[in-house]
Amino acid sequence: MTVPTHTLQRPRADESAGGPTLTRRLRRLRRSPAMRNLIRETRLTKDMLVYPLFVCPGHQVRREVPSMPGVAQLSVDEAVREAEAAAGEGINAVLLFGLPEAKDERGSAAGDPAAPVQSAVRAIKRGIPDLLVVTDVCLCEYTSHGHCGLVEGDEIVNDATVGLLAQAAVSHAEAGADVVAPSDMMDGRVAAIREALDAGGFEDIAIMSYAAKYCSAYYGPFRDAADSAPAFGDRRTHQMDPANVDEAVRETELDIEEGADIVMVKPALHYLDVIARVKQELGFPTAAYHVSGEYAMLKAAARNGWIDEERAMLECLTAIHRAGADIVITYYAREAARRLAG
Ligand code: PBG
Ligand code: ZN
Repeated sequence: MTVPTHTLQRPRADESAGGPTLTRRLRRLRRSPAMRNLIRETRLTKDMLVYPLFVCPGHQVRREVPSMPGVAQLSVDEAVREAEAAAGEGINAVLLFGLPEAKDERGSAAGDPAAPVQSAVRAIKRGIPDLLVVTDVCLCEYTSHGHCGLVEGDEIVNDATVGLLAQAAVSHAEAGADVVAPSDMMDGRVAAIREALDAGGFEDIAIMSYAAKYCSAYYGPFRDAADSAPAFGDRRTHQMDPANVDEAVRETELDIEEGADIVMVKPALHYLDVIARVKQELGFPTAAYHVSGEYAMLKAAARNGWIDEERAMLECLTAIHRAGADIVITYYAREAARRLAG
C-alpha cells in the first residue's frame, strides 16, 4: 500500500503546544488488552491442533523420549489414556506413529492389522469415537534399514513402494482411521492410496498428504521417538531440497490432482514462506507440522532458563497459523490447548 505523502506527518520539535502533531498513531490500537483483543488479525484456537502419538508394543508402557521432553512412546492402553486426556482438553485430532514388534527389509508390519498403530486406532475409536484419528503412512518405522521405501542397491525404489504404502493405508482404514497421512514422498502415492481406499469401500476416508516435505535436520529427535533413523544414506532422493519453493507448489498441486484432501508443509517455522504460497496459490485446507527438532529446541532453551517457554510456544504456533496453516500439528498441542482454554 502506498500512503499519500500529505498524510505522512513527522513530529515537529518546534511545536509550541508541546510535543509532536501526528495524525497516524498506530499505538492507539495497542493501548489495552481489550483493544488488542478487538483488532487481532489471527487467532490460534485448539480446534486447529493435531497431537502426534508414538504407539509401541506392550502394556502399561510409557517410555520418555530423551530428546523430546514431555513426549513418550506409549503402549496401546497408554495411548488411549493420552488421547482421552487430549480430547478432554479440547483437541480434535491425534496423529499416530507406530513402533512395530519386529522389522524386516520390506516393512511388512506396516500393514499388519495386529500392529500397534492399527490396534491403537481400534481402541481409540472405541473409547473416544468423536476424536479424529489420523495415521502416518510410511515404511521407515517398519523397515530394518530405516528407509521410507524398498531398497535395491543404494536406491529407494518408487513404484514398488507405492503399492506397499497403499496396503498400509487400507489396513489403517480397516481399523477405523478417519484420515491417512502418507509421509514417504514417493511419486504417485496419493493416487495409489486413493484408488486402494476406494476399491476397499473407504471412499469417505480422507487423505492428508505430506505434500511439501523437506529433507530437514529437524526430524532428528523424531527418529529417536519412532526408531526410524536410516541405517545408511539419507532421504535426499525423495524429500525436498530446503532451497526450493516453486517445487513445493508443484508437489502440492500434484498431490491435489491425485486426490489429497488436505495438504501439508513440513517443517513449519523455517518454511513459513512455503506455507503462505501453498495456501495463497492453491487455496486448499493446509496443515503445517511443527516438527520434533523445532519442539526440542524450545524445550532445551526453556530447561536452561533461556526462554519463556509458554510465550515462545504461542508465538511459534501463532506464526504458523498466520502464515496460512489451517491445521497445526504439534507436540505442544496439549500444553497449547490448556493455555488457550485459560
Ligand atoms: C516418517 C516421518 C518423519 C516425520 C514424520 N513422519 C521422519 C522422517 O521423514 O524422517 C518427522 C516428524 C518430526 O520430526 O516431528 N517418514
Ligand atoms: Zn518415512
